[in-house]
Amino acid sequence: MTLYRHVLAPALFALSADRSHSLAHAALRRAPPWRALSAIANLKVADPSLTTHFAGVEMPGPVGLAAGFDKNGDLLAALSCLGFGFICVGSIMPEPRFGNPFPRLVRYRAKESIADSMGVPSKGRAYAVERLKQHTRRPVPVFANVGGFSSETIAAGVLEVMPHVDAVEISLMCPNVLKPGEVFDEIGMLRAILDRIAGRTASIVVRVPNDTTQLHDRFAELVELCVEAKVGGLKVGGGRRFAEPALGAGMGTLHGRAIFDAALENVERAAGFARGRIPIKGNGGISSAADVLAMRHAGATCVDLYSAFVYQGWTVARDINRDLVAAFARDAGEATLVPKVGIAGARRT
Ligand SMILES: Cc1cc2nc3c(=O)[nH]c(=O)nc-3n(C[C@H](O)[C@H](O)[C@H](O)COP(=O)(O)O)c2cc1C
Repeated sequence: MTLYRHVLAPALFALSADRSHSLAHAALRRAPPWRALSAIANLKVADPSLTTHFAGVEMPGPVGLAAGFDKNGDLLAALSCLGFGFICVGSIMPEPRFGNPFPRLVRYRAKESIADSMGVPSKGRAYAVERLKQHTRRPVPVFANVGGFSSETIAAGVLEVMPHVDAVEISLMCPNVLKPGEVFDEIGMLRAILDRIAGRTASIVVRVPNDTTQLHDRFAELVELCVEAKVGGLKVGGGRRFAEPALGAGMGTLHGRAIFDAALENVERAAGFARGRIPIKGNGGISSAADVLAMRHAGATCVDLYSAFVYQGWTVARDINRDLVAAFARDAGEATLVPKVGIAGARRT
Protein backbone atom coordinates (compact mmCIF):
# COMPACT_ATOMS: atom_id res chain seq x y z
CA MET A 1 0.00 0.00 0.00
CA THR A 2 1.44 3.37 -0.92
CA LEU A 3 0.52 6.51 0.96
CA TYR A 4 -0.11 8.52 -2.20
CA ARG A 5 -1.99 5.98 -4.33
CA HIS A 6 -4.18 4.58 -1.57
CA VAL A 7 -4.71 7.50 0.79
CA LEU A 8 -3.87 10.89 -0.68
CA ALA A 9 -4.86 10.37 -4.30
CA PRO A 10 -8.44 9.25 -3.45
CA ALA A 11 -8.78 12.33 -1.20
CA LEU A 12 -7.40 14.63 -3.89
CA PHE A 13 -9.51 12.98 -6.59
CA ALA A 14 -12.64 13.62 -4.51
CA LEU A 15 -11.98 17.31 -5.19
CA SER A 16 -12.18 18.97 -8.59
CA ALA A 17 -9.04 18.52 -10.70
CA ASP A 18 -8.41 22.28 -10.65
CA ARG A 19 -8.66 22.38 -6.85
CA SER A 20 -6.33 19.43 -6.29
CA HIS A 21 -3.88 20.93 -8.79
CA SER A 22 -3.63 24.10 -6.69
CA LEU A 23 -3.34 22.07 -3.45
CA ALA A 24 -0.47 20.07 -4.94
CA HIS A 25 1.21 23.33 -5.90
CA ALA A 26 0.80 24.72 -2.41
CA ALA A 27 2.31 21.54 -0.93
CA LEU A 28 5.33 21.76 -3.23
CA ARG A 29 6.14 25.40 -2.51
CA ARG A 30 8.42 24.54 0.41
CA ALA A 31 11.37 22.24 -0.24
CA PRO A 32 12.46 21.02 3.26
CA PRO A 33 9.67 18.42 3.74
CA TRP A 34 10.40 17.03 0.28
CA ARG A 35 14.13 16.86 1.00
CA ALA A 36 13.33 14.83 4.11
CA LEU A 37 10.90 12.57 2.23
CA SER A 38 13.43 12.10 -0.54
CA ALA A 39 16.00 10.83 1.96
CA ILE A 40 13.55 8.60 3.85
CA ALA A 41 11.94 7.07 0.76
CA ASN A 42 15.13 6.95 -1.34
CA LEU A 43 13.45 8.88 -4.14
CA LYS A 44 16.73 9.45 -5.99
CA VAL A 45 17.98 6.28 -7.62
CA ALA A 46 21.67 6.88 -8.28
CA ASP A 47 22.94 4.34 -10.76
CA PRO A 48 25.41 4.91 -13.60
CA SER A 49 23.26 2.86 -15.99
CA LEU A 50 20.61 5.59 -15.78
CA THR A 51 22.92 8.45 -16.81
CA THR A 52 21.55 9.93 -20.00
CA HIS A 53 22.78 12.62 -22.41
CA PHE A 54 20.31 14.73 -24.33
CA ALA A 55 20.68 18.12 -26.05
CA GLY A 56 24.16 18.48 -24.60
CA VAL A 57 22.92 17.92 -21.05
CA GLU A 58 24.05 15.10 -18.78
CA MET A 59 21.11 13.90 -16.70
CA PRO A 60 21.09 11.45 -13.76
CA GLY A 61 18.19 9.55 -15.33
CA PRO A 62 16.17 9.36 -18.53
CA VAL A 63 12.80 10.30 -16.96
CA GLY A 64 12.00 13.99 -16.54
CA LEU A 65 9.00 16.01 -15.40
CA ALA A 66 7.34 17.55 -18.45
CA ALA A 67 6.45 21.19 -19.03
CA GLY A 68 3.24 22.50 -17.55
CA PHE A 69 3.38 21.39 -13.93
CA ASP A 70 5.73 24.14 -12.75
CA LYS A 71 4.91 26.89 -15.19
CA ASN A 72 6.81 29.68 -13.45
CA GLY A 73 9.71 28.01 -11.64
CA ASP A 74 8.05 28.32 -8.21
CA LEU A 75 8.45 24.64 -7.30
CA LEU A 76 11.94 23.85 -8.57
CA ALA A 77 13.58 23.21 -5.20
CA ALA A 78 10.93 20.68 -4.15
CA LEU A 79 10.57 19.03 -7.56
CA SER A 80 14.35 18.53 -7.71
CA CYS A 81 14.07 16.15 -4.70
CA LEU A 82 11.75 13.67 -6.42
CA GLY A 83 14.22 11.64 -8.48
CA PHE A 84 13.47 13.03 -11.93
CA GLY A 85 16.38 13.20 -14.38
CA PHE A 86 15.43 16.78 -15.25
CA ILE A 87 12.64 19.27 -14.62
CA CYS A 88 11.05 21.25 -17.42
CA VAL A 89 9.70 24.63 -16.28
CA GLY A 90 7.07 26.46 -18.37
CA SER A 91 5.57 27.23 -20.71
CA ILE A 92 7.06 30.62 -19.93
CA MET A 93 5.07 33.27 -21.80
CA PRO A 94 6.37 36.76 -22.62
CA GLU A 95 3.78 38.57 -20.49
CA PRO A 96 1.51 37.54 -17.60
CA ARG A 97 -1.61 35.72 -18.85
CA PHE A 98 -4.69 34.50 -17.03
CA GLY A 99 -5.38 31.57 -19.37
CA ASN A 100 -8.76 29.98 -20.16
CA PRO A 101 -11.89 29.99 -17.99
CA PHE A 102 -12.32 27.28 -15.33
CA PRO A 103 -12.79 24.33 -15.22
CA ARG A 104 -9.49 23.80 -17.01
CA LEU A 105 -8.83 20.18 -16.08
CA VAL A 106 -10.85 16.97 -16.33
CA ARG A 107 -9.63 13.57 -15.13
CA TYR A 108 -10.36 10.19 -16.72
CA ARG A 109 -9.30 8.02 -13.83
CA ALA A 110 -9.88 4.63 -15.47
CA LYS A 111 -7.42 5.59 -18.19
CA GLU A 112 -5.09 7.60 -15.93
CA SER A 113 -5.55 10.50 -18.34
CA ILE A 114 -6.26 14.21 -18.16
CA ALA A 115 -7.86 16.75 -20.46
CA ASP A 116 -6.34 20.19 -20.12
CA SER A 117 -7.50 23.53 -21.46
CA MET A 118 -5.29 25.73 -19.33
CA GLY A 119 -4.63 28.19 -22.15
CA VAL A 120 -1.01 28.70 -21.01
CA PRO A 121 -1.53 30.80 -17.88
CA SER A 122 1.76 32.40 -16.90
CA LYS A 123 3.25 34.92 -14.49
CA GLY A 124 5.30 36.14 -17.42
CA ARG A 125 8.91 35.85 -18.46
CA ALA A 126 10.34 38.49 -16.10
CA TYR A 127 8.94 36.62 -13.09
CA ALA A 128 10.12 33.18 -14.30
CA VAL A 129 13.62 34.45 -15.08
CA GLU A 130 13.91 35.80 -11.52
CA ARG A 131 12.86 32.40 -10.17
CA LEU A 132 15.37 30.59 -12.40
CA LYS A 133 18.12 32.99 -11.33
CA GLN A 134 17.43 32.11 -7.68
CA HIS A 135 17.71 28.39 -8.41
CA THR A 136 21.48 28.57 -8.87
CA ARG A 137 22.49 25.23 -7.30
CA ARG A 138 20.77 22.92 -9.73
CA PRO A 139 20.72 19.42 -8.18
CA VAL A 140 19.14 18.14 -11.40
CA PRO A 141 19.19 19.79 -14.83
CA VAL A 142 16.50 22.36 -15.57
CA PHE A 143 14.90 22.86 -18.95
CA ALA A 144 12.78 25.93 -19.65
CA ASN A 145 9.92 25.62 -22.09
CA VAL A 146 9.44 28.98 -23.82
CA GLY A 147 6.19 29.81 -25.57
CA GLY A 148 4.79 32.78 -27.43
CA PHE A 149 2.73 33.71 -30.44
CA SER A 150 5.46 35.18 -32.67
CA SER A 151 8.99 34.22 -33.66
CA GLU A 152 10.29 37.53 -32.22
CA THR A 153 8.90 36.96 -28.73
CA ILE A 154 9.89 33.28 -28.62
CA ALA A 155 13.46 34.03 -29.77
CA ALA A 156 13.75 36.86 -27.22
CA GLY A 157 12.48 34.50 -24.51
CA VAL A 158 14.94 31.78 -25.49
CA LEU A 159 17.89 34.19 -25.31
CA GLU A 160 16.77 35.60 -21.97
CA VAL A 161 16.27 32.28 -20.16
CA MET A 162 19.21 30.44 -21.75
CA PRO A 163 21.91 31.61 -19.28
CA HIS A 164 19.87 30.33 -16.33
CA VAL A 165 18.97 26.79 -17.46
CA ASP A 166 20.60 23.71 -18.97
CA ALA A 167 18.45 23.58 -22.12
CA VAL A 168 15.57 25.52 -23.63
CA GLU A 169 12.50 23.88 -25.16
CA ILE A 170 10.58 25.83 -27.79
CA SER A 171 6.78 25.58 -27.94
CA LEU A 172 5.47 26.80 -31.28
CA MET A 173 2.03 28.30 -30.67
CA CYS A 174 -0.57 29.34 -33.19
CA PRO A 175 -1.10 33.12 -33.00
CA ASN A 176 -4.85 32.70 -33.73
CA VAL A 177 -4.88 35.33 -36.44
CA LEU A 178 -5.51 32.86 -39.24
CA LYS A 179 -7.97 33.60 -42.00
CA PRO A 180 -10.47 30.84 -42.86
CA GLY A 181 -8.71 28.06 -44.77
CA GLU A 182 -5.22 29.16 -43.63
CA VAL A 183 -3.05 26.74 -41.68
CA PHE A 184 -0.57 27.57 -38.93
CA ASP A 185 2.86 28.00 -40.52
CA GLU A 186 4.81 26.38 -37.69
CA ILE A 187 7.77 25.66 -40.00
CA GLY A 188 8.04 29.34 -41.00
CA MET A 189 7.82 30.36 -37.35
CA LEU A 190 10.50 27.86 -36.33
CA ARG A 191 12.80 28.92 -39.18
CA ALA A 192 12.53 32.57 -38.10
CA ILE A 193 13.27 31.65 -34.46
CA LEU A 194 16.29 29.52 -35.39
CA ASP A 195 17.65 32.36 -37.59
CA ARG A 196 17.49 34.68 -34.61
CA ILE A 197 19.31 32.27 -32.31
CA ALA A 198 21.77 30.92 -34.88
CA GLY A 199 24.96 29.56 -33.34
CA ARG A 200 23.19 28.82 -30.04
CA THR A 201 20.98 25.91 -31.06
CA ALA A 202 22.91 23.03 -29.45
CA SER A 203 20.97 23.25 -26.19
CA ILE A 204 17.62 23.88 -27.89
CA VAL A 205 14.83 21.30 -27.89
CA VAL A 206 12.00 21.81 -30.36
CA ARG A 207 8.62 20.53 -29.27
CA VAL A 208 6.95 19.14 -32.39
CA PRO A 209 3.40 20.57 -32.34
CA ASN A 210 0.77 17.84 -31.97
CA ASP A 211 -0.95 18.91 -35.20
CA THR A 212 2.34 18.60 -37.12
CA THR A 213 2.64 14.93 -36.20
CA GLN A 214 -0.60 14.35 -38.14
CA LEU A 215 0.90 15.71 -41.38
CA HIS A 216 3.58 13.40 -42.77
CA ASP A 217 5.41 15.88 -45.03
CA ARG A 218 5.39 18.75 -42.55
CA PHE A 219 6.59 16.45 -39.77
CA ALA A 220 9.50 15.32 -41.99
CA GLU A 221 10.26 18.93 -43.00
CA LEU A 222 10.32 20.12 -39.40
CA VAL A 223 12.72 17.34 -38.40
CA GLU A 224 14.96 18.19 -41.39
CA LEU A 225 14.98 21.88 -40.47
CA CYS A 226 16.04 21.01 -36.90
CA VAL A 227 18.82 18.72 -38.17
CA GLU A 228 20.13 21.42 -40.54
CA ALA A 229 20.06 24.07 -37.79
CA LYS A 230 21.95 21.70 -35.43
CA VAL A 231 19.15 21.79 -32.85
CA GLY A 232 19.99 19.74 -29.73
CA GLY A 233 16.85 17.58 -29.65
CA LEU A 234 13.17 17.10 -30.43
CA LYS A 235 10.24 16.56 -28.06
CA VAL A 236 7.69 14.28 -29.70
CA GLY A 237 4.34 13.50 -28.09
CA GLY A 238 0.91 12.18 -28.92
CA GLY A 239 -1.51 14.73 -27.46
CA ARG A 240 -4.62 15.65 -29.40
CA ARG A 241 -7.30 18.32 -29.17
CA PHE A 242 -10.86 17.18 -28.67
CA ALA A 243 -14.24 18.47 -27.56
CA GLU A 244 -14.88 18.13 -23.80
CA PRO A 245 -18.01 19.99 -22.64
CA ALA A 246 -16.93 19.72 -18.97
CA LEU A 247 -14.06 22.15 -19.68
CA GLY A 248 -14.72 25.88 -19.46
CA ALA A 249 -13.28 26.31 -22.94
CA GLY A 250 -15.30 23.36 -24.32
CA MET A 251 -12.13 21.94 -25.94
CA GLY A 252 -8.99 20.50 -24.47
CA THR A 253 -5.87 18.44 -25.12
CA LEU A 254 -5.75 14.82 -24.02
CA HIS A 255 -2.75 13.60 -22.00
CA GLY A 256 -1.93 10.42 -20.10
CA ARG A 257 -2.14 6.70 -20.78
CA ALA A 258 -4.87 7.17 -23.41
CA ILE A 259 -2.30 8.74 -25.75
CA PHE A 260 0.65 6.40 -25.20
CA ASP A 261 0.20 4.35 -28.38
CA ALA A 262 -0.08 7.48 -30.52
CA ALA A 263 2.97 9.00 -28.84
CA LEU A 264 4.99 5.83 -29.40
CA GLU A 265 4.06 5.77 -33.05
CA ASN A 266 5.01 9.44 -33.45
CA VAL A 267 8.39 8.84 -31.81
CA GLU A 268 8.99 5.95 -34.18
CA ARG A 269 8.11 8.14 -37.17
CA ALA A 270 10.32 10.99 -35.91
CA ALA A 271 13.21 8.54 -35.47
CA GLY A 272 12.63 7.40 -39.05
CA PHE A 273 12.92 10.98 -40.31
CA ALA A 274 15.86 11.77 -38.02
CA ARG A 275 17.95 8.68 -38.88
CA GLY A 276 20.10 9.19 -35.78
CA ARG A 277 21.01 12.78 -36.65
CA ILE A 278 19.10 14.38 -33.77
CA PRO A 279 18.05 12.84 -30.44
CA ILE A 280 14.41 12.54 -29.42
CA LYS A 281 12.62 13.04 -26.11
CA GLY A 282 9.51 10.88 -26.08
CA ASN A 283 6.42 12.04 -24.22
CA GLY A 284 2.80 11.06 -23.79
CA GLY A 285 1.25 8.54 -21.40
CA ILE A 286 4.50 7.20 -19.97
CA SER A 287 3.88 5.62 -16.58
CA SER A 288 6.23 2.63 -16.20
CA ALA A 289 9.69 1.34 -17.01
CA ALA A 290 8.14 -0.80 -19.75
CA ASP A 291 6.84 2.39 -21.37
CA VAL A 292 10.28 3.99 -21.16
CA LEU A 293 11.88 0.91 -22.71
CA ALA A 294 9.29 0.92 -25.49
CA MET A 295 10.03 4.60 -26.14
CA ARG A 296 13.76 3.88 -26.28
CA HIS A 297 13.10 0.96 -28.59
CA ALA A 298 11.14 3.37 -30.84
CA GLY A 299 14.13 5.73 -30.92
CA ALA A 300 13.82 8.07 -27.92
CA THR A 301 16.89 8.86 -25.83
CA CYS A 302 14.90 10.12 -22.84
CA VAL A 303 11.29 10.82 -21.89
CA ASP A 304 9.23 13.16 -19.76
CA LEU A 305 5.87 12.71 -18.12
CA TYR A 306 3.14 14.69 -16.39
CA SER A 307 -0.06 12.63 -15.93
CA ALA A 308 1.71 9.69 -14.25
CA PHE A 309 2.98 12.14 -11.61
CA VAL A 310 -0.64 13.08 -10.89
CA TYR A 311 -1.80 9.44 -10.69
CA GLN A 312 1.24 7.87 -8.98
CA GLY A 313 2.59 10.78 -6.94
CA TRP A 314 6.08 11.48 -5.70
CA THR A 315 7.39 7.91 -6.10
CA VAL A 316 6.78 7.73 -9.85
CA ALA A 317 10.35 8.55 -10.96
CA ARG A 318 11.89 6.32 -8.27
CA ASP A 319 9.74 3.32 -9.18
CA ILE A 320 10.43 3.67 -12.90
CA ASN A 321 14.15 4.20 -12.31
CA ARG A 322 14.44 1.13 -10.05
CA ASP A 323 12.76 -1.04 -12.68
CA LEU A 324 14.97 0.44 -15.41
CA VAL A 325 18.14 -0.36 -13.45
CA ALA A 326 16.92 -3.96 -13.05
CA ALA A 327 16.06 -4.20 -16.77
CA PHE A 328 19.44 -2.78 -17.82
CA ALA A 329 21.25 -5.20 -15.51
CA ARG A 330 19.27 -8.13 -16.97
CA ASP A 331 20.00 -6.86 -20.44
CA ALA A 332 23.72 -6.56 -19.72
CA GLY A 333 23.74 -10.06 -18.21
CA GLU A 334 22.07 -11.54 -21.26
CA ALA A 335 24.40 -9.63 -23.59
CA THR A 336 27.42 -11.30 -22.00
CA LEU A 337 25.86 -14.72 -22.64
CA VAL A 338 24.42 -14.09 -26.09
CA PRO A 339 26.11 -11.28 -28.01
CA LYS A 340 23.78 -8.71 -29.62
CA VAL A 341 20.76 -9.58 -27.47
CA GLY A 342 19.44 -6.39 -25.89
CA ILE A 343 16.94 -3.62 -26.04
CA ALA A 344 17.12 -3.01 -29.77
CA GLY A 345 17.62 0.63 -30.67
CA ALA A 346 18.26 1.66 -27.08
CA ARG A 347 21.28 3.89 -26.94
CA ARG A 348 22.53 3.83 -23.38
CA THR A 349 24.45 7.07 -23.22
C1 LIG B 1 -2.40 20.39 -16.90
C2 LIG B 1 -1.37 20.36 -17.98
C3 LIG B 1 -0.73 21.53 -18.33
C4 LIG B 1 0.23 21.53 -19.34
N1 LIG B 1 0.87 22.69 -19.66
C5 LIG B 1 1.83 22.68 -20.60
C6 LIG B 1 2.55 23.86 -20.92
O1 LIG B 1 2.34 24.93 -20.33
N2 LIG B 1 3.48 23.80 -21.90
C7 LIG B 1 3.77 22.64 -22.56
O2 LIG B 1 4.63 22.64 -23.45
N3 LIG B 1 3.13 21.49 -22.26
C8 LIG B 1 2.18 21.49 -21.31
N4 LIG B 1 1.53 20.32 -20.98
C9 LIG B 1 1.85 19.09 -21.74
C10 LIG B 1 2.87 18.21 -21.00
O3 LIG B 1 4.14 18.80 -21.05
C11 LIG B 1 2.96 16.83 -21.65
O4 LIG B 1 3.43 16.98 -22.97
C12 LIG B 1 1.64 16.11 -21.68
O5 LIG B 1 0.99 16.17 -20.44
C13 LIG B 1 1.78 14.65 -22.10
O6 LIG B 1 2.47 13.91 -21.14
P1 LIG B 1 1.68 12.92 -20.13
O7 LIG B 1 0.84 12.04 -21.00
O8 LIG B 1 2.75 12.23 -19.39
O9 LIG B 1 0.83 13.80 -19.27
C14 LIG B 1 0.56 20.32 -19.99
C15 LIG B 1 -0.09 19.14 -19.60
C16 LIG B 1 -1.03 19.15 -18.61
C17 LIG B 1 -1.70 17.85 -18.21
